Amino acid sequence: MGGKAKYHWQSQNVKQSGVDDMVLLSKITEDAIVDNLKKRYMDDYIFTYIGPVLISVNPFKQMPYFTDREIELYQGAAQYENPPHIYALTDNMYRNMMIDGENQCVIISGESGAGKTVAAKYIMGYISKVSGGGSKVQHVKEIILQSNPLLEAFGNAKTVRNNNSSRFGKYFEIQFSRGGEPDGGKISNFLLEKSRVVSQNENERNFHIYYQLIEGASAQQREALGIMTPDYYYYLNQSGTYKVDGTNDSKDFQETMEAMQVIGIPGDIQTQVLQIVAGILHLGNISFIEAGNYGQVESTDLLAFPAYLLGIDPNRLQDKLTSRKMDSKWGGKSESINVTLNQEQANYTRDALAKALYARLFDYLVESINKAIQKPHEEFSIGVLDIYGFEIFQRNGFEQFCINFVNEKLQQIFIELTLKAEQEEYVQEGIKWTPIEYFNNKIVCDLIENKLNPPGIMSVLDDVCATMHAKGEGADGTLLQKLQAAVGTHEHFNSWNSGFVIHHYAGKVRCLLDVALIKHQRLVFWGVLKIGTSVNCDNFIRSLFPENLNTDKKARPTTAGSKIKKQANDLVNTLMKCTPHYIRCIKPNETKRPKDWEESRVRHQVEYLGLRENIRVRRAGFAYRRLFSKFLMRYAILTAETWPCWRGPEQQGVLHLLRSVNMDNDQYQMGRTKVFVKNPESLFLLEEMRERKFDTFARIIQKAWRKFIARKKYEQMREEASDILYNSKERRKNSINRNFVGDYLGLEQRPELRQFLAKRERVDFADSVNKFDRRFKSIKRDLILTPKGIYLIGREKVKKGPEKGQIKEVLKRKMEFGSISSVSLSTRQDDFFVLHEAQYDSLLESNFKTEFLSLLSKRYEEVTKRKLTISFGDRLEFRVKKEGWGGGGTRIVVFQKGPGDLAQLKPGGKTLSVTIGDGLPKSSSSLYHRTAGLLLKHTFRSLSSVHQNGGAKFPRGPHNPQADITYSSPQKQGRPLQGGPPKLGSQRGPRPPAPNQYNQRNLDFLNVPDQGMKQRKRSITQRPPPAPKPQPRPQGPRCRALYQYVGQDTDEISFEVNDVFDLVKEDASGWWTGRIGGKEGLFPGNYVEKI
Ligand SMILES: Nc1ncnc2c1ncn2[C@@H]1O[C@H](COP(=O)(O)OP(=O)(O)OP(=O)(O)O)[C@@H](O)[C@H]1O
Ligand SMILES: [Mg+2]
Repeated sequence: MGGKAKYHWQSQNVKQSGVDDMVLLSKITEDAIVDNLKKRYMDDYIFTYIGPVLISVNPFKQMPYFTDREIELYQGAAQYENPPHIYALTDNMYRNMMIDGENQCVIISGESGAGKTVAAKYIMGYISKVSGGGSKVQHVKEIILQSNPLLEAFGNAKTVRNNNSSRFGKYFEIQFSRGGEPDGGKISNFLLEKSRVVSQNENERNFHIYYQLIEGASAQQREALGIMTPDYYYYLNQSGTYKVDGTNDSKDFQETMEAMQVIGIPGDIQTQVLQIVAGILHLGNISFIEAGNYGQVESTDLLAFPAYLLGIDPNRLQDKLTSRKMDSKWGGKSESINVTLNQEQANYTRDALAKALYARLFDYLVESINKAIQKPHEEFSIGVLDIYGFEIFQRNGFEQFCINFVNEKLQQIFIELTLKAEQEEYVQEGIKWTPIEYFNNKIVCDLIENKLNPPGIMSVLDDVCATMHAKGEGADGTLLQKLQAAVGTHEHFNSWNSGFVIHHYAGKVRCLLDVALIKHQRLVFWGVLKIGTSVNCDNFIRSLFPENLNTDKKARPTTAGSKIKKQANDLVNTLMKCTPHYIRCIKPNETKRPKDWEESRVRHQVEYLGLRENIRVRRAGFAYRRLFSKFLMRYAILTAETWPCWRGPEQQGVLHLLRSVNMDNDQYQMGRTKVFVKNPESLFLLEEMRERKFDTFARIIQKAWRKFIARKKYEQMREEASDILYNSKERRKNSINRNFVGDYLGLEQRPELRQFLAKRERVDFADSVNKFDRRFKSIKRDLILTPKGIYLIGREKVKKGPEKGQIKEVLKRKMEFGSISSVSLSTRQDDFFVLHEAQYDSLLESNFKTEFLSLLSKRYEEVTKRKLTISFGDRLEFRVKKEGWGGGGTRIVVFQKGPGDLAQLKPGGKTLSVTIGDGLPKSSSSLYHRTAGLLLKHTFRSLSSVHQNGGAKFPRGPHNPQADITYSSPQKQGRPLQGGPPKLGSQRGPRPPAPNQYNQRNLDFLNVPDQGMKQRKRSITQRPPPAPKPQPRPQGPRCRALYQYVGQDTDEISFEVNDVFDLVKEDASGWWTGRIGGKEGLFPGNYVEKI
């Protein structure tokens, strides 16, 4: 590759190969397009864009860029940010659907083996990965994914072109909830290739399920279904091909059965499904001999088994296969006569029955999937159309004729929407534009489907079928004559000696229609229905033939062409209602080998897909157009004037938005009803701004949610913590209902402390504690608990170097859980605890010991799989660190009853005596419950105040986001930092002077009421209850607001920045009382400065 390889300008380590978007080609010729595709293909880039259209070249090997990493990369990214990818197209559909509220569809086209089905599967996979959802949605996703192996088993087969060729077309709508979760779906299937059930060309196989059953059936199933080797069955042995390279039929069989299970097909029906599959195989082995012009079953022995499998009486089956009831009109009278069939007709009938059974079974499977994922009403959807490709065989019968017709129709949609509509729109909207020539294949569609003037091929065919004689001799000739008369001069039609040629958009196809066969299929339909309906009533097969022959007397198959014409037009209508996307698949070779590039083959596809015209139209035109109203809606969020809605003429609003992002004048044009943006890059500018705004909101929502979750978690922790001390230790009067915060040091903003932790190490608990040495002298330490252990951080003066004299943080001790043996505490209400460690112990004092202990014991158990021993006693022993020669040994702490709630310390030699008054009884427990609903209300109230003014404005200070949970400082913490409301809890700054003092001050309002705590509402935030009666204070201290504050409850006041008002009461909890506008209420003290 050399050092000169160019790399994608945004993605890292992505080599640039040719151009990503062929709109950027310097010359727009077929050669240049083919060259570009080849260059990329050889560099293993299978995807290339033409504007929004994705070109995909089949690599015939697994590419490495379909992992979770790519799924993440493409999620929410703009098209130009990453190399072209089917995930980018899918993500775009998903986002458009959600933002614009429009259904989307993607039309995947290309010839057989070009990679359509694989592409469809990538789309489904991506959607199921990126969209969330609960268990119901997961179930739907699973069914959507499992529908693939099931439908492929019954609908795909090996052909000469593709080892896994779809022999049916499908349109799979994935339906979404308003929240974007795939919660339903619907499959429509078309044109199952029924002829394959009874015969296959050389080197081809029947549908996969037959070989799967033969290879994968259990011994019991073999016995029950009469499974032999494939060459035993006439319906499989005509082509002599039974195996496919790289396919494990036996394994696939297990997958098929599992898929049936997931989809919810009951076990007994699964058995009957297999019975029909085997039944068809055995039916195929019934042969007929000619006996005096009549067809006769050659060996009646072969009748019994299929009859048994299909649940039909053998005599009746024989009867139906060799004769037909005909209604005949004779002299005004109508009578029913039994006509005996000849050998050929009997063969037709047998095959028709096999095909009908198979087709109805296939429909049943599709229906089962639909039933499992249907939803009562549709909201949004993304439709994926994977129809089998245009194909040319040596001999092209009626089915190929239909397939090619549908492909012609799809090409027509593509042309209508991308080339024709685009150009017409410019004219309509008055946009300056030079028209571009392209081939419109409508003329070919008309040749086939026109009803009259001149009648199209289908109409002529129907006519010939309707008027031919029963035997059908000479009908083919008649068809050709009539076609010659009707469309003989059409430039896309030629006749040849035994058939006709249609010049399709994708090439010339010689068709040979067997009119007698087409006609006969219609005639035997009735007979087949009779066989189907004569099955036992409770039989599954009977349910596949719901027709009631008595009342449905007139039910006849519609004419050969009318059904497919209707299906094709219905499909076109469905697609036209959605916002369309296109994937054009290209097949680079017929060898199915990677890196094999057959130039002429690719050129042919590039030509007929109209890629050159596509690029030219794109290039000359505008990448993006939107109705003014839709544009305004999508980008409203960008400016205050447009949010939530623009007042004034729409066109002005659009201009306002375009100018707000400084878009160059030559980048857009205003039409009559739409705005046109020239380059994708200009549009991405808008998109990016929009994303950024949304990101801001998303962050706010996330933050509120996290806060809510954290609060719930801490509440639960508090309950658990009090369990630890329950019945063992007296409690501090204010500690039981204190809310847990975890990190009291605000480590996120303390790099000097974080330096001792690993990069993403989580902090469970952090607080400043007192540590006692061998002489019981106390010193401050920062105690940090993480999943890795306990850290004790102190401060020391730097002794040398450039920072000499400065005070620096030092890691004094790190204890791993494995080395901690136990923790001991007194039974009184003091805050001491001893951490017993392998080397020596630590005597610590912390106001938040209960919280610390609860977190420690949880982590300890997680890591060591042992329970942490916590012991209680009023004589605690701790071993001190050995230092130098001396040291070591143990110290004792004795706890006694004394006056007051403050611990009094009296060191004496090796014993420290601690005296303290009685606390709350040992059996006190936390009874406080704050409902989740209340919390959520609170959270969303904060949020809604964010949205009040519409735009992406941050809350200016409605409510201190952390006040509820992290308020731990007893006093106003100096002047808050500039640039935002003060963060009460996590702020650095003076710690509470003495915890015990602090506790004492708050005692009155934190007392446990006699009736328990349930009635209490506010103590969680350590906020004093409102004063019973507001005391008017004529003159007194006043304060000025530094930040806006919006009261969160009825007993709070609100104020704006710079408001000056009376300060009624300062409280150590930080919640002060003030009076403003005649209302007295609480507010956070650090939102104001005293004047
Ligand atoms: N993106 C891809 N990566 C790897 N292999 C692929 C890819 N696309 C296609 N293939 C290979 O090509 C084969 C044919 O692809 P696929 O079945 O999708 O063709 P198709 O267009 O659906 O053809 P048909 O019209 O016959 O159904 C696949 O079985 C697979 O081996
Ligand atoms: Mg396919």
